[in-house]
Amino acid sequence: MEETFTYRLATVHDLQDILEIEHASFTLPWTQEAFYNEIVHNQFAYYLLIEADGRTVGYCGVWVIIDDAHITNVAIRPEYRGRKLGEAIMRQAMHLAGRYGAARLSLEVRVTNYVAQNLYRKLGFQDGGIRKKYYSDNGEDALVMWVML
Ligand SMILES: CC(C)(COP(=O)(O)OP(=O)(O)OC[C@H]1O[C@@H](n2cnc3c(N)ncnc32)[C@H](O)[C@@H]1OP(=O)(O)O)[C@@H](O)C(=O)NCCC(=O)NCCS
Repeated sequence: MEETFTYRLATVHDLQDILEIEHASFTLPWTQEAFYNEIVHNQFAYYLLIEADGRTVGYCGVWVIIDDAHITNVAIRPEYRGRKLGEAIMRQAMHLAGRYGAARLSLEVRVTNYVAQNLYRKLGFQDGGIRKKYYSDNGEDALVMWVML
């Protein structure tokens, strides 16, 4: 039977799920306070969730500031990766950004994160510049990628 996935915007009640996925996905995880501020106070921020089997299996944050949008983070639970969910939630985020008036979407990605770069290239993102020593844990550079919506 085909699995079905649903999307919705996160609320404060989703913080624990988001943090669990965040900690399983990143070496420099955002704090609970950072996500709380994003969800409750940042009028430009939208946090999309993807749900499967009755649980939250991934999220994607997007800022939309007039015609410019930016992905803050995207992650899928490790055991759900490789099933096109990252691609699906990114497509939803691109759709949301376009619907709220963005003409262009950008993001930063570690220069060694080839999995994520492959995903973004598949979605039409192009390479922009390099932000030197962007990540404070290991001094890694960030590649800026962008796509017109
Ligand atoms: C990046 C991430 C969100 C991708 O999610 P996912 O659900 O596993 O990816 P999908 O199954 O949707 O794959 C979509 C595309 O991504 C790329 N991709 C996914 N897994 C890959 C792998 N193991 N190796 C190479 N490319 C891969 C491919 O281009 C793939 O398309 P294809 O299957 O047609 O070749 C997920 O790996 C993740 O949560 N990683 C940790 C957090 C992270 O690095 N986030 C990005 C920060 S910038």
